[in-house]
Amino acid sequence: MGLLHAADWRAEWLRVEEVTPEDAAQKPAPPKLSVISAVYGTHDNQRKFDVTEKVRESVASKGGVLMVQASNANFGDPAVGGGKRLEVVYEVAGKRYTVSAGEGMFVTASEPADAFEAPRVKRLQTPRYLRRDFSVADRPVRATLYATALGLYEMRLNGQRVGDALLTPEWTAYDKRVQVQAYDVTPLVRQGANALGALLGNGWYCGTVQCWPPQICLYGYEPRLKAQLEIECADGKRQIVATDDAWLGSLDGPLRFSGIYEGETYDARKEMDGWDAPGFKSDARWQPALIDRAAKAGALVWQRSEPICVTRELKPVAVTEPKPGVFVFDFGQNMVGWTRLNVRGAAGDTIELFYNEMLNPDGTVYRDNLHAGKMGKAQSQTVRYTLRGGADETYEPHFTYMGFRYVEVAGLKAKPDASLLTGRVFHTAFQQTGNFTCSDPQVTRLVENIQWSQRGNMMGIPTDCPQRDERAGWAGDAQFFMPTAVYNFDVAAFFSKWLFDMCQDSFVEGKGFADMAPYYGKLGAGNTGWGDAGVVCPYVLYRTYGDTRVIEAHYAKMKRHVLTLSSACTNSIRGPGAYGDWLNVGGGAKGEVCGTAYQVYLAELMAEMAAATGQGADAASFGAMAREARAAFRKAFFREDGSIAESSQTGYALAFTMGLVPEALRGKAAAKFKGEVERFKDCVATGFIGTPRLLTGLHAAGLDDAAYRMLLRREYPSWLYPVTLGATTIWERWDGWRPDKGFQDPNMNSFNHYAFGSCGHYLFECVGGIAALEPGYQTFTVAPVIGEGLEWAAASYDSIYGKIVSEWRKSGGKVQLKVVVPPNTRAVISLPAASAEQVLEGGVPLANAPGLSFLGAGDGHVRVHAGAGTYAFGF
Ligand code: BGC
Repeated sequence: MGLLHAADWRAEWLRVEEVTPEDAAQKPAPPKLSVISAVYGTHDNQRKFDVTEKVRESVASKGGVLMVQASNANFGDPAVGGGKRLEVVYEVAGKRYTVSAGEGMFVTASEPADAFEAPRVKRLQTPRYLRRDFSVADRPVRATLYATALGLYEMRLNGQRVGDALLTPEWTAYDKRVQVQAYDVTPLVRQGANALGALLGNGWYCGTVQCWPPQICLYGYEPRLKAQLEIECADGKRQIVATDDAWLGSLDGPLRFSGIYEGETYDARKEMDGWDAPGFKSDARWQPALIDRAAKAGALVWQRSEPICVTRELKPVAVTEPKPGVFVFDFGQNMVGWTRLNVRGAAGDTIELFYNEMLNPDGTVYRDNLHAGKMGKAQSQTVRYTLRGGADETYEPHFTYMGFRYVEVAGLKAKPDASLLTGRVFHTAFQQTGNFTCSDPQVTRLVENIQWSQRGNMMGIPTDCPQRDERAGWAGDAQFFMPTAVYNFDVAAFFSKWLFDMCQDSFVEGKGFADMAPYYGKLGAGNTGWGDAGVVCPYVLYRTYGDTRVIEAHYAKMKRHVLTLSSACTNSIRGPGAYGDWLNVGGGAKGEVCGTAYQVYLAELMAEMAAATGQGADAASFGAMAREARAAFRKAFFREDGSIAESSQTGYALAFTMGLVPEALRGKAAAKFKGEVERFKDCVATGFIGTPRLLTGLHAAGLDDAAYRMLLRREYPSWLYPVTLGATTIWERWDGWRPDKGFQDPNMNSFNHYAFGSCGHYLFECVGGIAALEPGYQTFTVAPVIGEGLEWAAASYDSIYGKIVSEWRKSGGKVQLKVVVPPNTRAVISLPAASAEQVLEGGVPLANAPGLSFLGAGDGHVRVHAGAGTYAFGF
């Protein structure tokens, strides 16, 4: 993927006029256009016709719109060939314009744009088909297609789909930046006749986006396409085919409707065979596409992250018939994407597919939780396909996605075969980097569930959920989950992209970073844990990959965020924030405790990031700010007995992971923390703010026994409770569904929300014990916590230097630990053994083991320094 240099763009934004009677009534009359002259003839002027009157008639018959085809048929020239053109001079509001087009093409008025302004009635637009023929004189040796849309597009070239990226150009604040995708299409372009085609849908640009209640047309009123094909031929000539006035558009194709939340409607009877191939004869279903110079689009930027692609297919594991004629396909896994339909039947039959995550007691698909605003559930996650009839038909949607494990199928004439539907899983196509398995299959499943929720909620941006009418770039969720996310998958590119959305495009003057990105001005900014993502996420990215560019890119905005919030504090105490410890079940902490803890943490991160980028003065002043805020926290909230005011598990988790506990109170505070764990009988009672730090907080407090007990707890509320109920992803709420109570509040009850999966990093960082010492893992620790309740654990992380492995197993009162340290890295390995004499490596005493040097022993641990290699410890 690359980017065409700004000066090399020849393409225009293209739109296809869709005027309903409703639009026509609302549309102001365009300024009057009068044709001054029109000439049709050969380029060499040998043949020339004055066609002014004919063009005037055409304009009059189209209600004042200039849109006329330069053709012999229109202008009565019997001489075929010779390459003619039409040139029209016209006037609007006292200004003259000249437009022209070659034979077969349309002349359209392109100025002033206002005369052709998009309809201003907000409604969902019909998907567009666009096409253009072109011919290539010589053999093409290289061809690159650059494409983007205000909306969503799929490009086609000579009858084939271009690339495999989905939902392009993905979601950004379109008024600020629009991503461009580049495709190598050399194998698709040929000498002679060619055709480019495009499908264009509303997407987030002018489709539905949740604004409490949902709204449409947030960025614009209709979708537009911009594309440029650059061809280099064997003879050295270059040819450009761009979106220009030679494109035709159709609103009458088979894709009848498409919406991110809503799904798609496709009528295969309307398919236009060959529309995307050369030689297609366009008919009345096609009209000239219009150049839109009024389109307001942000800067065209390259795509930083991996594209959204299908990464795996799932076959149904069961098909049931809960009601006569209603079939439910179970994919065995809550997934995000869509299904491929393979069907045969009669023309005009319509099949309806309803997608969601859980079942009703009667075995039909539960859909009440799709409804979270004004949009009815009947419009959510639904595919309607009308058959063309006769042969086997295959269909996959285009501009939507669904969160589902089950699909309810209606409209079939007979019981279907399982091959009717294939699950297609897609997301930003990052590589998996983390693996964790252990002796407790439910903990292993928990990690898989966390990873599935990450796949499902990283769709160009990190989302809260993938199914109901929300799917927003909630920054809090991303921030809470990020320390876990970076173990699971290589998210360097993904977060690099989103941090532009967050840090550059979602800064609200006077408030700091918005609570979500892309931000469309509808909700808050600067709220504890949410807006703070704009500082925390760049930091986690930097720590994981050791690349300071993320700091440099966003430093100024991060600094303003922290200064804005610190100046809003009263005596260094930050206010409560809008969401508090969201969805906690009694184990939270009051808003000021969370806010002030975050204020200390942000200042610490800024000090570290300033130092890492050579900004000494800032490092010092943020360091001072952190000290002041920490002192204020201690004074306001810590009591002599080690307790934290109005705090339960969350308050202690923050204090122990954010360096807030006074040294003198460590023991007492740890005892209070333990008390809060016991008060809830080892259950997890924290919300979004506390949960990511709960187990690592207990670890920092020296309470790994309690951490293990909480991790392994199966009763409600706990991480394993949903696993015992068959969950295959992380639920938004601890009690999304309970056998004794049924479903939680359908207005907000997602079964695929990664926020509570934010405990995952404890498994890699503490149970496996793999953690970076230096940003980027050139040095790291392997310090596994070998606790009660697990017999073995195997963790690995593919760092940017290579795979780090930590695998331990208890046997006969001893422990075997395998550690892999990749090339060009060094590790500090901490073994839970009383003395070096108790430890063997590769069967020999530590002192004789190659590659290791002894660092020290104490607190029940032996520490060694290890160079690259594979080690087998026994102790
Ligand atoms: C979302 C959350 C989000 C929250 C803000 C919810 O509707 O689903 O995950 O962080 O709003 O409190």
